[in-house]
Amino acid sequence: MMSLQKYLFRALLLSFFVSYADDANKNVLLDKGANMDKKHAGLEQEREPSIGISSQDRNASIKLLNSILADMFVLYVQTLNYHWNLVGPQFNDYHALFDAQYRALFDEIDKIAERVRVVGGIAHGSMSEMIAGASLQEDSGDIPAPRQMVVNLLKQHEKLIKNLRHAINETAKNERDMGTSDLLTGLLVAHEKTAWMLRALAER
Ligand SMILES: [Fe+2]
Repeated sequence: MMSLQKYLFRALLLSFFVSYADDANKNVLLDKGANMDKKHAGLEQEREPSIGISSQDRNASIKLLNSILADMFVLYVQTLNYHWNLVGPQFNDYHALFDAQYRALFDEIDKIAERVRVVGGIAHGSMSEMIAGASLQEDSGDIPAPRQMVVNLLKQHEKLIKNLRHAINETAKNERDMGTSDLLTGLLVAHEKTAWMLRALAER
């Protein structure tokens, strides 16, 4: 039978590892999409926005916005790739559809990056940050057939919708940052519509 001392020692050891793993996990989540350490060269300190949102809540918004920005950038490049490289008898239809979608994504990316600046952060601005900060996996394999492109894009939009919903819930909680939650809600509605259209197109 285990002595009380041994039992307590093991319980202490276990709680240490659990809390270490938990912290490590939180840090990974915080680092993803954070970009909090970057500063403007030559500027000692940028003026912080005094807009009625605490710095803690602004930092939370910056992380969420940068991670959505990275997701959208991955989807933007994937849509461009399909727009450029698709082949087949329905070329014109798909080419035009993907054209409209990548342009819409670009407009959204710009709005999100500017919102990062509005709440006092630095927006992701390099490909390595986009890849590292995205939860969407980019499609870098062979060029799929047009219908498969539609299915692949649908899956990406659906994942993005879930990420947007999470970010909206977080920023709307206790009215932390209603400007960001409002911006993201508009994007959510647009992506839900795009997903519906892609889903309808994928039927046969
Ligand atoms: Fe084009």
